[in-house]
Amino acid sequence: MDKVEIFANERATGYNQFVETWIPNYHYFLGRLPKLLSETNPKDLLIVGCGTGNEIERFIQAPEHWEITGIDPSPEMIRQANEKLQSYQNVTLIEGLLADINIEKKYGAATLLLVLHFLEDDGNKLKLLKDIAERLVSGATFVMLDITGNKNQIRQNLKVLRFLLPDGLDEEKINNRLNRIENELYYISEEKLSELCTEAGFESPIRFFQSAIYMGWLTKKK
Ligand SMILES: C[S@@+](CC[C@H](N)C(=O)[O-])C[C@H]1O[C@@H](n2cnc3c(N)ncnc32)[C@H](O)[C@@H]1O
Repeated sequence: MDKVEIFANERATGYNQFVETWIPNYHYFLGRLPKLLSETNPKDLLIVGCGTGNEIERFIQAPEHWEITGIDPSPEMIRQANEKLQSYQNVTLIEGLLADINIEKKYGAATLLLVLHFLEDDGNKLKLLKDIAERLVSGATFVMLDITGNKNQIRQNLKVLRFLLPDGLDEEKINNRLNRIENELYYISEEKLSELCTEAGFESPIRFFQSAIYMGWLTKKK
């Protein structure tokens, strides 16, 4: 059974404001994605855990034409994505899990942003990475953004994150949020992430972006 982290109620409706506040440089990262993947062939993109459609919006604004499939198990997140994106013929949105979609169809690239740290490293992370690898053409680029680091790295980078957050946030809210990240999310070390990727069928990933605890990774399907 796949592990799912459902985003509902205020967590879904307030999601876009949430990322804006808590993930410094997230919009910069998103904005560069179409360029980063511009050599993709075919331009058939799989966006896993697409949420409210943040990544998809960037690709429909890009100069090249992309065929985009976004998939997410949270009904309220997919509903918001649908509201924004339903008029685009080149966007297909699916409410569900990757394991439910046809394995015959292969994509030219994939993204997995801010999803993996919600899944335990008890086979669930590996399963999701394998489900993605199986749906990509050989050589396809795969981009991830995830909370990454060993315990010590995360502790140090949470201190840094505090200074990167917007001014004027409530101190108690900051403490609660940083505590939750440290103690309740399933981040893994850079080495472990690399191991899982290679086991799933990807090359060893490179870290090309970092904003405190958030690291951006790029790899290719073997
Ligand atoms: C923090 S949001 C990220 C959304 C989007 N990628 C973004 O960057 O704005 C995490 C999303 O992962 C989805 N999710 C949870 N478990 C998942 C799973 N097993 N496979 C794919 N997506 C999952 C949630 O429904 C949620 O929409």
